[in-house]
Parts: sequence; C-alpha cells; structure tokens
Amino acid sequence: MLRLDDHPSGRHFLQIPGPTNVPDRVLRAIDHPTIDHRGPEFARLALAILAGLKTVFQTDGPVIIYPASGTGAWEAALVNTLSPGDRVLMFETGHFATLWRKMAGNLSLEVEFVAGDWRSGVDPAAVEAQLAADREHRFKAVMVVHNETSTGVTSRIAAIRQAIDRARHPALFMVDTISSLASMDYRHAEWGVDVTVAGSQKGLMLPPGLSFNAISDKALAASRSARLPRSYWGWDEILASNRAGYFPYTPPTNLLYGLHEAIAMLLEEGLQAVFARHHRHGEATRRAVRAWGLEIVCRNPAEYSDSLTAILLPEGHDADALRRHVLDRFDMSLGTGLGRLAGRVFRIGHLGFFNDLTLCGALCGVEMGLAERGVPHRPGGIKAALDCLQGGDAAPASRRQAETTRA
Ligand SMILES: Cc1ncc(COP(=O)(O)O)c(C=O)c1O
Repeated sequence: MLRLDDHPSGRHFLQIPGPTNVPDRVLRAIDHPTIDHRGPEFARLALAILAGLKTVFQTDGPVIIYPASGTGAWEAALVNTLSPGDRVLMFETGHFATLWRKMAGNLSLEVEFVAGDWRSGVDPAAVEAQLAADREHRFKAVMVVHNETSTGVTSRIAAIRQAIDRARHPALFMVDTISSLASMDYRHAEWGVDVTVAGSQKGLMLPPGLSFNAISDKALAASRSARLPRSYWGWDEILASNRAGYFPYTPPTNLLYGLHEAIAMLLEEGLQAVFARHHRHGEATRRAVRAWGLEIVCRNPAEYSDSLTAILLPEGHDADALRRHVLDRFDMSLGTGLGRLAGRVFRIGHLGFFNDLTLCGALCGVEMGLAERGVPHRPGGIKAALDCLQGGDAAPASRRQAETTRA
C-alpha cells in the first residue's frame, strides 16, 4: 500500500517552483462537503470567485476557469482565437516556451520561433523588428512566457506591449503567467494582454488541477471568427453559463472552495504586499547564491524571477545527485533542471505560501547539501540571506504598500 505521508517528523519542504505548499486554510476549505453545482449556494460561490479573479489578474474583463492543468489553458488560448495555418511569433526562453511552441505546431499553426539562450528574456526590440518587417500582418499572435519556470528568467511584458504598439501591429498578445500570477506584478488590462494563461498550483497556493484564461474584448472578437476546432475549451458556452454562476459541465467544486479561500488570503494580504514579499525572498535567495559563489542562470538582473531561482552547478557536478541527497537527508524537494538544463541546474522555488523562516530552512538545506556532496562553494550564503531579510532593504517602499482591492 502506498504511504502518502511518509514524513515521520516535521513537515516536508516542498521547494520546487510549483506545485507549492498549500496553506492549511485552503486545505480546510477544500475539505468541505461537495454541494449541488446547479444549486443557489454554488452560484454564490462561483460569482464571488469570478469577481475575485478579476482583481488577481488586474482586469475588468472575464476570466475563464478550466478544470485542467496549465497545459489545457495554453490549448484553450490558441484554439479559441486562431485558425489552421495562422502564423504566430514565439520566443525560445526555455523549456516551457518550447513546449508551448510544440503545441502550436501540433495544432497546425505556423510558428516563427526566435532562438534564445535559455538565460535571457524576450527582447522587446526583437519583437518590434519582427513585427515591423511583417508588413502584410501575417502574424496573428505574439506569445510570450512571462516567467520561464525552467530558468527563473522573466520577460518584460509592458515593454513588449509597447514594442507591438510601436510596430503598429494588430497581432493578439498572449502571455503565460503560470509561475508569475499572484507572486509577481502582472497587469492583464493595463499591459494590453489579450489572453493571459495561468494555473492554480503556484502563486495561487492551490493543488494542481485548475487553469485560467483572462481575455480581452479583442480576443473575444477574434474567437467569433477563429476556426481551430474546439468544443470543451470553447469560451462562449462557459461565459454564457458563468453569467449566472454556473458551468456548462460538472465543475471541480472542492478545488473552487480552495480557490475562494486562496483569493481571500491574497486580498487580505494585499496584492502589492504579496509582490513585495516575493521580491524580498527572491533577492535574499540571490544574495545567498552569490555568496556561495555559484552562478544564477538568469543573466540580466532586470529579468530576475521573484518566484524561483535556477542555479548552475560547477562543471562535473550533477545537480540531480545534489537534489536526491537533499531529499534523502533533509526531506526537501528542489526543482530539477529541465530540457537542455537537465543535470546542470537545480531550482529553488520561493513562491506561494512562504515566509522568511521557510526561506531560511530551504537555504540551510541547500547549503548543507552542497557541503555534504562536496560541491565547491564558499560558506556564508545563509548569512548573506539573513542580512538581506533583517535589513529589509530588498523591497522598495513603493512595493510594500498594501493596495486597496476591488473585490
Ligand atoms: C511557465 C509554465 N507554463 C506552462 C506550464 C505547464 O503547466 P502544467 O504542468 O500545469 O500543465 C508550466 C508548468 O510548470 C509552467 O511553469
């Protein structure tokens, strides 16, 4: 018989960049009895969630909820807005951008995939150059991963929007925020994004199983003429049912209880405070890595991720052996290297339900693991992180202010 809770003393440290630790408040909410998804109580729940999601995505437009992992919401974004043979512009920022590109190809889209080094975000100038050269407006969409979970590199979404506007190009703008939503500032409406893709298992602090499309009026208009086949993913029927607080299929009621509670937690803390907390923990982690003398995958400090840090091990040292050791000795899961970074990189997730002492514990596990595995490094990473946390200098004051929420 499989034992699901094999952690005899103390809690497991789940420090992968998602799924993240689920707060007890959310677990308790999920634990409530399932109700009739066509009854009045359910409609109240769904309407409250749909309103709260608008605040989290920073939009006044609709947010669609799917009972699916993030990959499902990727597919929904494409099949609702595009037609077979449409040309789309994508950028090789890492493993997840590569997977989204593969999906676009599988769905018979023609992808221009701009090569990248897996250590940098999307260059807004490259977006502008590609679109300016496309005088016939053959590109129907620009697709970008906001936070590349495989590398810990972000792309500057507002600057990319400006680049699209400077090129005066009508392409739809689609952004994957699966590992940034509710941990880094992300503004669907202000940044002119047409479809935002997100998932439940990272900043939203839920188990895997829900994913989202936030959509603009322009995306909704495109969906009326888009010809890629779709049925289950179709926005129109979902939007029609959502108006009264229902879904056109049996919704995942208990995950929705959890989502309701998670939104409440985020709004109680205040989105700006949530972003400042993640920034502080990201900065403390980076200071630890530099003090160890190890290399952060992300090359450009303007593109650092505040939800995870990917770290390169010195040549000849196996990152997966380090991860296995840390799991065996300290009961902590660290993220593995993905795609071309397999074996060379490990990732520390510092997002979701997370505080100063969780970070200290995670960094202690890494530092002890490095020492026990004989990975060349300098001691002192923990001290550098503590100095950063105690000094409180990692978050600019403007990011600390709790915001007034709309929900
Ligand atoms: C940035 C990003 N995009 C897409 C995905 C795919 O999501 P899922 O594994 O939930 O299908 C992930 C998963 O970690 C991700 O981090």
